[in-house]
Amino acid sequence: MHAFKTAMLTSALVIAAAPLAAEESADAHTLYGANCTSCHGTEVYTREDRRVQSLDQLKAQVRMCEQNLGLKWFDDEVNAVATLLNEEYYGFEQ
Ligand code: HEC
Repeated sequence: MHAFKTAMLTSALVIAAAPLAAEESADAHTLYGANCTSCHGTEVYTREDRRVQSLDQLKAQVRMCEQNLGLKWFDDEVNAVATLLNEEYYGFEQ
């Protein structure tokens, strides 16, 4: 009985902590600066033959690079970084 209670309490804490963690880590500038500058600079976003041609593709590409790195970002983190890149470089209609 005691172990069961502890398990319940632990999972309640995990659930309660989740939204906070996501909110904190959805700081796109921090995420981007910490993870996204080692292979390519911003020149790939502005070059003539850039691959990404829509906001959906941009999100997919951010997800792809992020997964290659094994980061396991939440959707809102991928979206936040895609939005940042869109605002600063790509300029697709939302
Ligand atoms: C391990 C190396 C690596 C890291 C780190 C990396 N990328 Fe990439 N990224 C690539 C490669 C390779 C390409 C494809 C470049 C090409 O087509 O010439 C690319 C392309 C892109 C493109 C598309 C550029 C275009 O042509 O429009 C975006 C957007 C992008 N990366 C975002 C990110 C983001 C966001 C992160 C951080 C999560 C990140 N990358 C981290 C390797 C990396």
